[in-house]
Amino acid sequence: MEGRSRIPESAQNGPHEQLAALIERRGGQGYRKPVAPYSADAFTRFAAKCPPGAPLIVDSCCGTGESTLNLAAAFPDHFVLGVDQSADRLSRAPLPPANALLLRADMADIWRLLHEGGYRPARQYMLYPNPWPKIGQLARRWPAHPVFPLVLALGGTIECRSNWRIYVEEFALAARLISGLRSPVDMFAPAVPITPFERKYLASGHTLYRCVLECGA
Ligand SMILES: C[S@@+](CC[C@H](N)C(=O)[O-])C[C@H]1O[C@@H](n2cnc3c(N)ncnc32)[C@H](O)[C@@H]1O
Repeated sequence: MEGRSRIPESAQNGPHEQLAALIERRGGQGYRKPVAPYSADAFTRFAAKCPPGAPLIVDSCCGTGESTLNLAAAFPDHFVLGVDQSADRLSRAPLPPANALLLRADMADIWRLLHEGGYRPARQYMLYPNPWPKIGQLARRWPAHPVFPLVLALGGTIECRSNWRIYVEEFALAARLISGLRSPVDMFAPAVPITPFERKYLASGHTLYRCVLECGA
């Protein structure tokens, strides 16, 4: 995390030209890959602490959990679930407060389990997801992933941040194509960074972008 970081380089100069076709081809079909046992175990631990009706915030791909702890402090009346697949990153997390839980799991599984379990988060965060900026990597980006319609169906206020504007544009475009939601992509400058990547990008002088969707209850 030391030193200057680079803005993702890509041959794209706007949203991927195949994104709309990919979403249309899927026609809202669900993501059928079996849930990984380690994700299911992690979800069971979460469900034991937080019932479906409780006010919930989901911090997807939370890395070292710094944002999860910041969100737990900012929203003390919510339970904040931070999920990352990297045991190494999570091993650097401090002990979470009573209203937060950090889990090692695959987000693609957790979103599905949350939806099946009747959870409807008040807020969801997608903070600096891996950009996968090469043209051929489109399907690895969350807005192009077959689980993305379920992220939208979970609802709440959904915020995506990145230092790669095109990622956030694809997030906004996918939301419009799938759910008819329209929301702008804005530049923003947080007074205090809430994640390690946010801090690193600000220190490197990058412009940050975000899109906030209001998906309702
Ligand atoms: C660029 S880092 C950002 C971490 C953190 N949000 C931040 O801003 O500091 C992207 C994170 O996504 C996690 N990740 C990637 N794919 C994932 C998946 N399918 N499920 C859970 N975490 C994932 C990676 O392990 C990594 O920690």
